[in-house]
Amino acid sequence: MANTIINPETSALFAHLLSSGSDTDTDYSSDEEEQSSQAMVEAKVLAEEAKAPPRIEAISTRVLDGELAEGMAAKLGDQKFLSRIRFAAAKIPSPSQKVTVKDIKRELARLESEQMHHYISKFDIDSPENTILEILQGKYQDSKLELIPIDEGVTSTKLVLVDGIAKHILKSNCLPGNIDWKTIRVLLESTGRKNLSEQVYELFFKQPHQVVRQEFPHFNNVQREKLAYIIGASLGVPKTDVIRAQGGVFSLHDFVPNRGSARTFDILREDNQAQVDVQSLQNIGILDILLESQDRNAGNIMIQKGAVVLVPIDHALSLQKVKFDVRKNQDIKKPIWTKLTMAKEFLTGETIDIINALNPDDLVNQLLKNGIAVDVKIARSIYENVAFLKYQIRGKKITTLLELYESFYKKS
Ligand SMILES: Nc1ncnc2c1ncn2[C@@H]1O[C@H](COP(=O)(O)OP(=O)(O)OP(=O)(O)O)[C@@H](O)[C@H]1O
Ligand SMILES: [Mg+2]
Repeated sequence: MANTIINPETSALFAHLLSSGSDTDTDYSSDEEEQSSQAMVEAKVLAEEAKAPPRIEAISTRVLDGELAEGMAAKLGDQKFLSRIRFAAAKIPSPSQKVTVKDIKRELARLESEQMHHYISKFDIDSPENTILEILQGKYQDSKLELIPIDEGVTSTKLVLVDGIAKHILKSNCLPGNIDWKTIRVLLESTGRKNLSEQVYELFFKQPHQVVRQEFPHFNNVQREKLAYIIGASLGVPKTDVIRAQGGVFSLHDFVPNRGSARTFDILREDNQAQVDVQSLQNIGILDILLESQDRNAGNIMIQKGAVVLVPIDHALSLQKVKFDVRKNQDIKKPIWTKLTMAKEFLTGETIDIINALNPDDLVNQLLKNGIAVDVKIARSIYENVAFLKYQIRGKKITTLLELYESFYKKS
């Protein structure tokens, strides 16, 4: 994550550890500026990706050598770039004239179902000719399968029942409701393409095996779910497979037998909090720092059956920025667990061991091996976040999960 969320004290450390300059986040003072800066940043990503996407092995060295960070900062300060975007914005046709958001959405959905596989280079199940039901039927031969829609949340999440027993949760890639259409339209126009289909293709789907981009939060939900599993398997994230089937790309999660979410369990009630398994809480805390989780509401923690063990789910909003920046968007709340009294308990020996054992090279290489190519900024965030955790526990300056979290995010 950019250094803006990290204490000055630790940013000095990162400067040393990463031998790099810092990305300079603009502090937006008005909506218009925010719009333009965001567009500029996103357009910059496109410009970067016009070149061949870097290989991940190369990324780890590039992340560490600082040259790239300086290049980025230089670009971020480039006023000409900004004027170009403003110029492009001025040329946008009014909705009544031509392209409506509905048109864009339709085209995105069409291309998404055809092209989404370009964003991931390895599937746990790859069967584009078959429906998801056929694929699951192949996995569970002779069993009765049911796909039950789950009301909670905004995605088309489904519960997979096998012979009446809950086995999986199925999610698909989809656009969230809060997508920033104004910026999207600026960017579409700035592709210089004539028709909408070409513009959408140019903007979102051009590069085969395109990377998951930190600054395009509206796509790659499924990939981010897989990313969270790869990074967080040992921290309790349920097993997640990615499937290419007819109609797009899906994530299939192992179902956690549960007694409801932390919301239905009413985790903040004093007598309920007291029962929480402290290690599962600290594991989620570490995970939320590594992934920069932005959606750890009580609905996204399941309570296992039996002892009150917390299980993290729903990682669609991981390692991404822009609209979801905690400093700017008051709707994004701190993780629910920060409200638990238990978050003020000492880090356990196990937690310290987990942090010490984190190896960012391994994490990034695991992502690559599993077909998830992340962009330079995400790779860099992984390095920084691991470095942050290790630094904070050294010398026992930080002793509780809450302190750890609060020093990670600047108070808004
Ligand atoms: N691994 C799991 N095991 C058991 N239940 C799960 C699991 N994953 C999800 N669920 C159930 O499905 C519900 C919705 O899942 P999830 O939070 O992942 O999707 P969502 O909220 O619809 O998506 P999003 O927040 O990305 O829009 C959860 O509240 C929970 O009840
Ligand atoms: Mg959810």
